[in-house]
Amino acid sequence: MEAVTHTDIKELKRLFSGKVRDIYEVDSDRLLIVATDRISAFDVVFNEGIPGKGQVLTRISNKWFSMVEYPHHLISTEPEKELPFLSSYPELEDRCVLVKRLKRIDIECVARGYLFGSAYKDYVKTGSVCGIKLPPGLRLAEKLPEPIFTPATKAETGHDENITLEEFRKRVGDEIADYLESTTLAIYRWAHDKLYEKGIILADTKLEFGTDDEGNIYIIDELITPDSSRFWEKKSYKVGISPPNFDKQFIRDYLETLDWNKQPPPPPLPEEVIKKTIERYKEIEKIILSL
Ligand SMILES: Nc1ncnc2c1ncn2[C@@H]1O[C@H](COP(=O)(O)OP(=O)(O)OP(=O)(O)O)[C@@H](O)[C@H]1O
Ligand SMILES: [Mg+2]
Repeated sequence: MEAVTHTDIKELKRLFSGKVRDIYEVDSDRLLIVATDRISAFDVVFNEGIPGKGQVLTRISNKWFSMVEYPHHLISTEPEKELPFLSSYPELEDRCVLVKRLKRIDIECVARGYLFGSAYKDYVKTGSVCGIKLPPGLRLAEKLPEPIFTPATKAETGHDENITLEEFRKRVGDEIADYLESTTLAIYRWAHDKLYEKGIILADTKLEFGTDDEGNIYIIDELITPDSSRFWEKKSYKVGISPPNFDKQFIRDYLETLDWNKQPPPPPLPEEVIKKTIERYKEIEKIILSL
């Protein structure tokens, strides 16, 4: 299978290409989201795609959306029923969803049950994450006393940055802040417990939200995928080390072995890294689809 790294649906207007998804306009209140095989790490998109990754992400996200009990943007997982011309793009099968067109709230809503990534870095430097003081002496990948909500800005360009809870409240207002925080934490706990039974630790996850004209809040984008979350295997999890995982950490770990400054242009990804990455994505897909 060849990787799909760009799409061109002639019948629709393309509004936006993210690092992974291409967004098309369907009408004034609906979008078509197409998940490509593009992969990014450290916010840099690689030239190579990961064949089949977009389909894996779409199926995983659709599964969570079908189970979650909060309002979300998904209208249809079979957009070809309504947009029959999609059948002339067979490479896009299982990559497209029809969603409500919403106004994005420009915050990455992150819940963490374990200390890793940018949170670990902030903790080592300051003892806190997003203004939340944590107990001293925590080690890499250690379970937190309680899951925490650690919002970040959605930077148009460049890297997303953690912000304090205070700054977050100032940006979105108290009412929306309460909803985003409690919903993100509730979904994290719910998904964590479901996956834990299957031998998987959900270390953290990132949600995005959007609002409609009436001010109703919906989950948008993707839900609990390897691109938005860290999944660790319970059996190989050990405090103090970078746990083997099902997500991009594999590529990140590879990149750390290179002498690359994490700025474009990206280095080429070896065939072996591509192959191992899609295998990991497929393993976690199997587990999630069995929930
Ligand atoms: N229902 C929706 N309404 C409006 N925007 C949406 C909706 N669902 C997802 N989006 C936006 O579409 C884009 C999805 O593309 P992708 O995930 O590739 O972006 P990205 O590279 O992560 O970029 P960004 O940093 O802007 O999120 C995101 O910007 C996301 O916020
Ligand atoms: Mg995204």
